[in-house]
Amino acid sequence: MNLILLGPPGAGKGTQAKLISSNFEVPHISTGDIFRANISQNTELGIRAKQFMDKGLLVPDEVTIDIVKDRLTKDDCKNGFLLDGFPRTVKQAEALDKFLSQNGKKIDATILIDVPKEDIFDRMTGRRVCTKCGASFHVKFNPPKVEGICDLCGSEVVQRKDDTEETVKERLEVYDKQTEPLVVYYKSKNVLKAVDGTQDINKVFKDISNILGEND
Ligand code: AP5
Ligand code: MG
Repeated sequence: MNLILLGPPGAGKGTQAKLISSNFEVPHISTGDIFRANISQNTELGIRAKQFMDKGLLVPDEVTIDIVKDRLTKDDCKNGFLLDGFPRTVKQAEALDKFLSQNGKKIDATILIDVPKEDIFDRMTGRRVCTKCGASFHVKFNPPKVEGICDLCGSEVVQRKDDTEETVKERLEVYDKQTEPLVVYYKSKNVLKAVDGTQDINKVFKDISNILGEND
C-alpha cells in the first residue's frame, strides 16, 4: 500500500504513522523527521532547513522533492510506504505523482486526519517528542509511561523548537494557504479518506485500520 497522511500541524499524523507502520509493516517517511535528524547532525541540509522550520515556513519544494524521491527508491519501499508531512504543496503532489507513474506506481489512499484549529494549540504546546526515534507524546493526552523517557526506545523526550504559540500560528496559516488545496487535489483523484482526528488515539487508529482493510 502506498499511503499519504494529510492534516494540519498537530493533527496526529506522526502518532498515527507510528501505529500504522508497525501494524501494517510499511516504512514511515516523515519529511519533518528527516529535516530534524539533519539539524541535529548539523548537515548542510539541516542548516538550510532550520532557517525555514524555526519560522514555521515550508522548506523549498526543490529541496524537499528530491529528498523524498531519493527515499522512495530505497529497498524497503518496494512493497509500499507511508508518507507523513509530504506532499505539502500542489507542486510536491504533482512531482510525486509524476515520479510514481514513471515507476509504475500510484497512491492507493490519502488519509486526512481532521482536527479543528481550536484543538491544535493545546496539542502542540503539550507535545513532547523523542530525540532519537521521533515518537510523539503529550503531557496530558498521551504521557510517556516514565516522565521524560520515550516508551518505544528509552531516549529522552523534549519539546520541539517550533511548538511555540507564535510559530504554531504561522504553521497553521501556511497549512491553510499551501497544503489545504491538497484535500481537493486528492478528492478529485478519488483517493481521499477522512477520519475524525478529535477522537482518542486508539479510536482514530481503528478508523484508519478500517479504511486500510478496505484497500487491501
Ligand atoms: P512536521 O514535522 O511534518 O510538522 P507538522 O506537519 O507541523 O505536524 P506535526 O509533526 O507538528 O504534527 P502531527 O500531525 O505529526 O501530530 P503529532 O502526532 O505529533 O514538519 C515540521 C516542519 O518541517 C514544517 O513546518 C516545515 O518547515 C518542514 N517540512 C516538513 N515537511 C515538509 C514538506 N513536505 N515541505 C516543506 N517543508 C516541510 O501529535 C501532536 C500532539 O497531539 C502530540 O502531543 C500527540 O501526543 C497529541 N495527539 C495526537 N493524537 C491525539 C489524539 N487523537 N487526541 C489527543 N492528543 C493527540
Ligand atoms: Mg509529525
